[in-house]
Amino acid sequence: MKIAMIGSGYVGLVSAACFANIGNRVYCVDRDPKRIDNLENGQMPIYEPGLEALVRENTRQGTLSFHLASADVIDKVEIVFIAVGTPMGKDGAADLAAVYAVAREIGSHMSRPLIVVNKSTVPVGTGDQVRKIIAAELDRRGESLSFSMVSNPEFLKEGKAISDFGSPDRIVLGSDDPDALEVMGELYRPMVYRNPKERILRMSLRSAELTKYAANAMLATRISFINEMAQLCEAVGADINDVREGIGSDSRIGSSFLYPGAGYGGSCFPKDVEALRHTFEQHNLNAGILKAVEERNARQKQWAFGKIARHFGGVERDSTKLEGRHFALWGLSFKPDTDDVREAPSLVLIEQLLEVGATVSAYCPKGCEQTNFYLQNKSTLNATQLGRLRYVESAYQAAEAADALILLTEWREFLSPDWQRLKKLLKCPLLFDGRTQFSPRHLARMGFQYYAVGLPTA
Ligand SMILES: NC(=O)c1ccc[n+]([C@@H]2O[C@H](COP(=O)([O-])OP(=O)(O)OC[C@H]3O[C@@H](n4cnc5c(N)ncnc54)[C@H](O)[C@@H]3O)[C@@H](O)[C@H]2O)c1
Repeated sequence: MKIAMIGSGYVGLVSAACFANIGNRVYCVDRDPKRIDNLENGQMPIYEPGLEALVRENTRQGTLSFHLASADVIDKVEIVFIAVGTPMGKDGAADLAAVYAVAREIGSHMSRPLIVVNKSTVPVGTGDQVRKIIAAELDRRGESLSFSMVSNPEFLKEGKAISDFGSPDRIVLGSDDPDALEVMGELYRPMVYRNPKERILRMSLRSAELTKYAANAMLATRISFINEMAQLCEAVGADINDVREGIGSDSRIGSSFLYPGAGYGGSCFPKDVEALRHTFEQHNLNAGILKAVEERNARQKQWAFGKIARHFGGVERDSTKLEGRHFALWGLSFKPDTDDVREAPSLVLIEQLLEVGATVSAYCPKGCEQTNFYLQNKSTLNATQLGRLRYVESAYQAAEAADALILLTEWREFLSPDWQRLKKLLKCPLLFDGRTQFSPRHLARMGFQYYAVGLPTA
């Protein structure tokens, strides 16, 4: 099939490369000229395992190409995907300006019947709005071309995007047009050929739009729930990992997405939970659960600083005692195998430590560049404060002469550190673990004082 993918970010680029790789001809569009230039030269705008090879190979074979203007490609294709960003707007609602801009472009340039597929995460009713915008543009041009609207929300996980795309848990297709659903089912057939009936879920446009938000809200709820239990574990002397296994082994509950941590981040959960809460409010409904999920997450992002302030500053958490202290920080991206730091707990902690006069040596396999970009452009830190943060080349270099080590992202290379070496490098053997990934007994044997989310303090 011939496809245009408008928006070449995490979702657009991965989808485009994967569709091209199974024999479709995909025209990838982005309004950012630098991004298009780089992609034409095989340079990726994001880090995603396996993506670069896939893009290079399909570009070489001529099944994938990159374009700045959607006008150049819309009349060449039968399906147009919208995969642009829908960031959090000022009032918490999703900002749909980019989606609507693409709808106007489609209406102004289409010259044959089309299937318009929305892959961006959008509030219920957006598909209807996109349909109106395209129809209005066609009217303005005096054209009466037919087109169908499909909602096809994306569920891929950053860091595992390519394998998720090729082998999805499910594909959600929403439309009131059975022919469009048929074509879309055929497009996705290679991904589900072993069990197509159960993995392609067909529904209305609005149900599909809501399914995406409900899925992210459910996952965020599980994280905030286990984090709330973790806080109680710390207070009553229970171990969250035991509790987690105890409840996760119940098949009605299941064990995934039940790991305690220093708060969820990323480009999706925070903005999607907030946008869904906004939709409830627009309909005069109370989103009590979602509010609690967000509140817990905001508190959870304070976990590391709270423990550090208490350790060095006493019960009063006197943060002046942190001035001049030096901290090693492992992991900046919001999760492993991505360079994405949007809404990451690391940003909150770095800001807090630098504000109270501490210095930070940060190490992350992929997240340093994005962290630097965020802190330079979007934080309130001044140049002196930012001067107290340095990015280092290795995990052990970060630990040199640090008063404590803090772990915030569970990258593979942090799973089994050389404790003896760390002990020699650190000023004191002290670890704050925002992922609760080590054994407290082993750490005690190694001579470390160990704080972890949901564990009684050693
Ligand atoms: N990142 C994820 O893991 C993920 C997963 C599932 C769903 N989503 C959703 O998918 C959508 C896209 O997310 P993303 O992470 O890929 O965003 P992104 O910011 O990485 O990429 C969006 C791209 O769209 C381009 N763009 C914006 N307006 C454009 C226009 N008018 N014409 C052409 N290009 C335009 C931008 O330049 C950018 O490159 C969002 O709604 C997001 O919530 C993201």
